[in-house]
Amino acid sequence: MTSPAPKPWEHAKSGGSEADPLAARFVESLSYDTRLYDADIRGSLAHARMLEASGLITPEDLAAIERGLAEIRREIESAPAGPTAVGVPGAWPGWRVELEDVHMCIEAALVEKVGDAGRRLHTARSRNDQVALDLRLWLRDAMQAAAAAADKVLESLESLAERQGDLVLPSYTHLQRAQPIALGGELMAWHAMLSRDRAEFLRLACASAAESPLGSGAVAGTSLPIRREQTAEALGFGGPSASAIDATASRDEALDALYAMSRCAMHLSRLAEQWILYCSTEFGFLTLAEAYTTGSSMMPQKRNPDMLELIRGRCGSVYGRLVSLLTICKGLPLAYNRDLQEDKRHLFAAYDTLMDSLAMTSRIVATATFHEVGGLDRGHLDATSLAEYLVNKGAPFRTAHQIVGSLVRRCDASGRHSLSQLTLEEINAAIAEAGVKGSRASRDVQEWLGAANVVRRYRSEGNAGRSGYREALARAIQARRARASEPEAETTRKSGPEAGPPPSLFGEPLVTGKDRHAQAAAEAERYASAYAAVGRTLDDLPYTEEFETLYRNLGAEEAGLTRRDVFHRLHNLRKAGKLPRAGRAATAPPRITPEEEAALRAMVESAVGTLGQRDQLPYTPKFDELVEAFNARVGRQTDRHTVWRLVAKLAK
Ligand code: ARG
Repeated sequence: MTSPAPKPWEHAKSGGSEADPLAARFVESLSYDTRLYDADIRGSLAHARMLEASGLITPEDLAAIERGLAEIRREIESAPAGPTAVGVPGAWPGWRVELEDVHMCIEAALVEKVGDAGRRLHTARSRNDQVALDLRLWLRDAMQAAAAAADKVLESLESLAERQGDLVLPSYTHLQRAQPIALGGELMAWHAMLSRDRAEFLRLACASAAESPLGSGAVAGTSLPIRREQTAEALGFGGPSASAIDATASRDEALDALYAMSRCAMHLSRLAEQWILYCSTEFGFLTLAEAYTTGSSMMPQKRNPDMLELIRGRCGSVYGRLVSLLTICKGLPLAYNRDLQEDKRHLFAAYDTLMDSLAMTSRIVATATFHEVGGLDRGHLDATSLAEYLVNKGAPFRTAHQIVGSLVRRCDASGRHSLSQLTLEEINAAIAEAGVKGSRASRDVQEWLGAANVVRRYRSEGNAGRSGYREALARAIQARRARASEPEAETTRKSGPEAGPPPSLFGEPLVTGKDRHAQAAAEAERYASAYAAVGRTLDDLPYTEEFETLYRNLGAEEAGLTRRDVFHRLHNLRKAGKLPRAGRAATAPPRITPEEEAALRAMVESAVGTLGQRDQLPYTPKFDELVEAFNARVGRQTDRHTVWRLVAKLAK
């Protein structure tokens, strides 16, 4: 703008930092703190309303302040260069570096517009509590935006797992071939990490809304009769902070956010490193989309994974910001010191870097193509599976381990690279040699060998094979649908002077306990009457036309609910005694032999633990596998509905 106006708070001194342009440039934070403007205006409005309610300013003053701040917001937001640009053509002219920071620029513009009313705004307030407040308001939004960006990566991982999850890969420990896994198993590992990051960002959004620093003043509070509860509530905080000194002197919220961002950047960096290896000629597991590789200026054949390398490299920058702020804080005497102004430089830089890396990762993942991996018969990926086969045949695990070890050596010594090349006689000779009595391998041992077979055999919860990743993926997709059916999230809410406190932090509508209760009761009613209308008991309902009718009548698909969700809700209602009796099934399920019954029972127990947990099965990939296994065992085709009825009958 025009010639530098004297800083309003410098009158007691002879010129202050304006006297030397270097000092003015040295002390300013405007070049990086204008992004706090929205928080600053929201804070000022809440403060002004409180001052008026406390009788410290008149209603006319308040009206002038509200009008002035609204005008300032409009001007800032319509600046051609964007709201936060400083010192470039088209920037808001109120951003005057000589005024040091976002707070003073907005206040000076207000005084220019409304005179004395503007001069009263800073009553019982210091830049020290003001900046602490702004930072927490900013963090609340930023952490939610980070959670949303992490969610995009989760979505990309899910869609890649849906497309290519069944591909078989080697896994590694110590970068040596270990056991075979499904690609989906690896993808769901990244998914688990990023899910934790997402949850942590949301937790921090909430934590930063716990205590309002506003009203702490410069360090010690004020003798004026302010109402801190009122501003805290108006700004969506749990209450006022407990210590004025701590509220102005600490930056723990910023540090927690920097740590969470560092951890997330580390997860992205590990993924980047892994995939950089995977897309090398040596591994050849993966091709990146052209857009996310670059050529070499000298070697014409090259496609380099530069984006992944930068994701890995920038992780270092994010860590640096965390260490910087920790170090800034470590030697500070109480309370506020100007050193703390540097917090924003680091917090914002880390945030921008991480947000870029998250966005880039989600695009790279969404467009990556994995390939069928050749040579999976190298490295004895199936050795552990063979040992487990022997355990099933009664060998103690340690002995089985020893037997397979000797078989691996035998292969290597005889120039055979794979355990599947051994004869049954050789395997049984090794068993006998180890002194295991009464157990022999048979032809079916081949079903335990070979990477593709092994990946289908894992059954423990969370396994990296086919059943494990499909289960995790189904859960993730279900959770995503449930989130999508919730009303507009806070992240997308337009914050502004008129917006008031956030309706909620996690995208759930802010409903009171009473509303929630009424809603749940109405929902239970709806389910109960739809259930009564189709007239089949839960033990007879899954995989029938009637279930489809019920699913349609409840509008479940539109609400983003899966069949499994609906069945689950019905099951819960039955447990709570809220389902009407639907009468008995008209027909009895087909008879099966006691052996078949025992096998089915074992399958259910291995799938969900106990028969009592059977209601977790319908409409899951796990159940499909169970049906497949049951049919293979009994040697006839039984449909899913019938198998479900047999399971239900077992439980009787
Ligand atoms: N821009 C400063 C900051 O970010 C405002 C606080 C200045 N306070 C002071 N007492 N000089 O920390």
